[in-house]
Amino acid sequence: MKTVLITGAGGFIAGHLAVLLKQKGHHVIGVSRSTSRNAEFDKTHTAALGETLEPALSEQPIDAIVHCANHTGANEYETNVVGTSRWFDEARAHGVGLQILLSSLSAQADAASEYGRSKFALENKFKSSGEVAFRLGLVVGNGGMFEQMKASQRRFPIVPLLDNGSPRVYVLGIHALCEILCRCIESRGESMRGGVWRVQQPTPHTLRDVMKSIRNHFRFRCRFFPVSSLPVLWLLMILERLPLKLPVNSTNLRGLRAGRFVEFESDFARFGREEETLDGLVARAASDEVSARERASALHTGDHTHGRQDTN
Ligand SMILES: NC(=O)c1ccc[n+]([C@@H]2O[C@H](COP(=O)([O-])OP(=O)(O)OC[C@H]3O[C@@H](n4cnc5c(N)ncnc54)[C@H](OP(=O)(O)O)[C@@H]3O)[C@@H](O)[C@H]2O)c1
Repeated sequence: MKTVLITGAGGFIAGHLAVLLKQKGHHVIGVSRSTSRNAEFDKTHTAALGETLEPALSEQPIDAIVHCANHTGANEYETNVVGTSRWFDEARAHGVGLQILLSSLSAQADAASEYGRSKFALENKFKSSGEVAFRLGLVVGNGGMFEQMKASQRRFPIVPLLDNGSPRVYVLGIHALCEILCRCIESRGESMRGGVWRVQQPTPHTLRDVMKSIRNHFRFRCRFFPVSSLPVLWLLMILERLPLKLPVNSTNLRGLRAGRFVEFESDFARFGREEETLDGLVARAASDEVSARERASALHTGDHTHGRQDTN
């Protein structure tokens, strides 16, 4: 049994990973800005990037940390790089055996977004210290960027299709990602240390196909209309100054624009998994959503026979 600490515990990937690790018999501790909604964890500590991780690290020996926390908004680069580096250094001082960074395909030294530049800076720190970084494409499941794409189709009858849906999108299923992370933790990072691994599936899809697959499998009725991504980016940058809740942010859009025609190599094959079809991944996300709704309603009515499951 390993004791695993996951930061950004209230987030999409952290929650799924915690469920899988617990199913495999591990002890899972979360770090979150809030303690109120992290039922998947054995215990949750409260900390934001910029604050110390000492209380969580001193309570018991930790075998591995998965850094999922990611700040968006003002001071994105500094908050993420300084905050994650502090947690990284504190964990090292406590002798944590393995540290894993969740990075992104948009990680570049000269990336257009602070997000991409901060991921790149952190990757270098993890790599040069013999730890592990995973670069992810779009993770298909009910959360993160995929959820934002779904939300836009759920909320609006007409949805803009950026650059007529031509940008390339590389995907990976949430269940496959969590299995890969779990295996890395259980093997103490064997044969992965000092590397930045691109775990997206090798075959890219167009944004148009991803949006259409979401519309089909979640039975949305929206229509798409083509727009150029550049004016949308300018508009988002203006709207972000207002107190509005937007379905996407300029960071997401910059990442999409930067990678829209780039071909990325993939290390997916080395993890021994079969590539899944886009429709297969999206259909699974839709069925996960139905199961989550049934569990929530069972909890509400006091029927506890629907336990949360993350099967692979
Ligand atoms: N999902 C994807 O498609 C995708 C693709 C590429 C890379 N990634 C990377 O994978 C990681 C997890 O992604 P995700 O999709 O699970 O994202 P997510 O659902 O947005 O989770 C990120 C979590 O970070 C925590 N956080 C935010 N601001 C923070 C701050 N200032 N201090 C401390 N914690 C903060 C929050 O957790 P609490 O509310 O619990 O504090 C938040 O839920 C991120 O680093 C992301 O960049 C994801």
